Amino acid sequence: MDAALALIGEDLKNVELQFKKDLNSDVPLIRKVGEYVLASGGKRIRPALLLLSSKLCGYNGDRHVPLASVVEFIHTATLLHDDVVDNANIRRGKDSANSVWGNEASVLVGDFLFSKSFSLMVASGNLQILDVLSSATTKIAEGEVLQLICTADLDMTEARYIEVVKSKTAVLISAACQAGAILGGVSPEREQAMADFGMDLGIAFQLMDDILDYVADEEQFGKSIGHDLEEGKITLPLIHTLLHCTPAEQEQIAAIVNSDDFSKDDFQQILALVNSYGGIDVTVTAAKGYIARCKASLELFEDSPGKRALLGIADYVVTRER
Ligand code: IPE
Ligand code: IPE
Ligand code: MG
Ligand code: MG
Repeated sequence: MDAALALIGEDLKNVELQFKKDLNSDVPLIRKVGEYVLASGGKRIRPALLLLSSKLCGYNGDRHVPLASVVEFIHTATLLHDDVVDNANIRRGKDSANSVWGNEASVLVGDFLFSKSFSLMVASGNLQILDVLSSATTKIAEGEVLQLICTADLDMTEARYIEVVKSKTAVLISAACQAGAILGGVSPEREQAMADFGMDLGIAFQLMDDILDYVADEEQFGKSIGHDLEEGKITLPLIHTLLHCTPAEQEQIAAIVNSDDFSKDDFQQILALVNSYGGIDVTVTAAKGYIARCKASLELFEDSPGKRALLGIADYVVTRER
């Protein structure tokens, strides 16, 4: 990860400057909320992937920085909406925007960021990139709705879960990598390899996020632990547990998931079951499988600092603690 950041350090600094510029609005609350979220220290993994993909694909121009900024804008918009939908109070170790300014402001500023992203994409002047990124935003919305429909569904299958994960998270990460490839003007085969790389990496990224929701150190993670369960999100560690536990344990899980209040003890009970059926290990193994697959997509490319940096990000995804 450090090698990756060293390679694109200057560009990432320019991405930060670009955000600030793009947040410009005559409505002070938009700047205030936007700057609060953008300055709160996200990992910037999506812009980093776009910048590195464009590097790997031989791009030498200057459109990668504004596009990397657009991708982080889209991500930030989804987070503003996601925290409202998920009733989340903590984001990046700080009070989430919805808990500071309320749901209304979060939804509306999220809308501003979404629409602004579209004007910025059009300004970038590449229809193919516009197509990839706009399709990704549609897919994210579908993923979030699909997840909503699956709330507290104890019959959730792994296949359906992966479908949600792809849509709500992996598609945007894939689009960031593909946009970098399009900038570089590579062959369709290489462009597809970059899209595939991002998709598998994105799935692993969300699997690890769902694991961290069970086992992370809250302070380091910057989000509340146990929150997925509290919100009735049935993620892979629990899907695996439900599949292998006894009928009595299934009932115990159902009672907790369907109850209106959720205590620390409820969480500990479920965590103990998840651990005893190896739900965390199975999910880590699945994430590592996707990481192996994403790395294989890069075999088409010869060795270069850009390639090594992308492989480094892939390794980081399965070891991250925040
Ligand atoms: C959070 O994404 C949403 C998920 C897809 C899990 P990140 O973990 O990239 O969030 P920040 O931008 O670093 O805070
Ligand atoms: C993130 O899913 C997906 C989007 C933001 C679209 P999560 O709900 O798991 O992300 P966190 O945990 O709130 O960051
Ligand atoms: Mg959430
Ligand atoms: Mg999460």
